[in-house]
Amino acid sequence: MKIFVAGAGGMLSTDIIPVLSQGHTCVGATIDDMDITSVDSVASVVDKHSPDIIINCAAYTNVDAAEKDRDIAMLVNATGTQHLAMICAERDIPLCHVSTDYVFDGNSTVPYTPFDNPDPVNFYGYSKLAGEKYVQWLLRKFYIVRTSWLYGRFGKNFVKTILDLSGRMDTLRVVNDQIGSPTWTVSISHGIKAIVESGKYGIYHVTDATDGTLSWYDFTVEILRLSGKTNNVIPVTTDEFPRPAKRPAYSVLDLSVTKYSTPFKPRPWDEALAEYLKSSDKGIL
Ligand SMILES: NC(=O)c1ccc[n+]([C@@H]2O[C@H](COP(=O)([O-])OP(=O)(O)OC[C@H]3O[C@@H](n4cnc5c(N)ncnc54)[C@H](OP(=O)(O)O)[C@@H]3O)[C@@H](O)[C@H]2O)c1
Repeated sequence: MKIFVAGAGGMLSTDIIPVLSQGHTCVGATIDDMDITSVDSVASVVDKHSPDIIINCAAYTNVDAAEKDRDIAMLVNATGTQHLAMICAERDIPLCHVSTDYVFDGNSTVPYTPFDNPDPVNFYGYSKLAGEKYVQWLLRKFYIVRTSWLYGRFGKNFVKTILDLSGRMDTLRVVNDQIGSPTWTVSISHGIKAIVESGKYGIYHVTDATDGTLSWYDFTVEILRLSGKTNNVIPVTTDEFPRPAKRPAYSVLDLSVTKYSTPFKPRPWDEALAEYLKSSDKGIL
C-alpha cells in the first residue's frame, strides 16, 4: 500500500512512519507541507501523493491549553479531521484516524470497549470526539484507533518529564487516583499497521497491556526503577494536584476487538517501557 501520514513531525508519526515502511511505501507531510485546517491544502497534497490510505496523526494535543484555546482545538481536531474525511470520501480513500481514551468520562470500573458511549470530561476530549463523528458521518471506509498515555522518543511526554524531574528533585508527588494504560508509540504503530492491513473497517482500541489498575504513580515508580533512580515518590490525589483540564479517573481501553479482528498482540506495558528506556542508552530517547 502507499500510505500517507498527516501530522508527520509529531511524537506518534515519528515512530509510525518507519514501522509502516516495513512492507509498504509510507510518506508523511508536516504541518508546513499540509495544514489540515485548510481544505485546499489537504486536497492538493493528497492529490500530489495519491495514496491508498491516509493515517491522521495531526492533532492539537495540549489537553490543559485546550480548555481556553477552544477555537484552535476545534479547528484542528474537529474541522481539520472533517477536511481529511471529506477529501477521502470524494476520492474513495480509506482514512485511519487516531483518537484518545479522553473521549470517555472515566466513570467506568471496567475497560471501555469500542461499543461504549463516549462522554468527554474536558474540551480536548470533546474536540477529539467531534473529529471521530466527522469520520463516521462522512466515510464508510474508516478506522478510528483510540489509544492512551503515549510516550515516544520525539516530543514531550510523561516519561521524559519524570526523568527530567528526577534529576532536579529528591521527592516527586504523583497522582495515584487516575487509572489508565501507558503506551509506547512503537506499540501503537504496530497496532495501526495490523489494523489497516486487516481491511476490517471500524473502531479499535490499541494500548500496551496492563492489569487495569495502573496509576500515574505506579507508572512513575516503574520508570524510576528501570532507570536506576532512587527518588522518593509520594502518591497524591487529583484534588491535591489541580490542573486546568479535568481528567477521566479511569480510562483503561478494552483491547478485545483489536485482538479478535487483527493479529496485533498487546505487549505488557512494563516490557515496552523497558525497551523504550533501553533505546535511550543509544541516545534516541
Ligand atoms: N500524546 C498522548 O498521550 C496521546 C494519548 C491518546 C491519544 N493521542 C492521539 O494520538 C495522536 C498523535 O499524538 P501525538 O502525541 O503524536 O501528538 P503531537 O506530538 O502533538 O503531534 C501532533 C502533530 O500534529 C501537528 N499538527 C498540529 N496542527 C496541525 C495542522 N493544523 N495540520 C497538520 N498538522 C498539525 C503538530 O505540529 P506542531 O507540533 O507543529 O503543532 C504535530 O506535529 C493524536 O491524534 C492524539 O490526539 C495522544
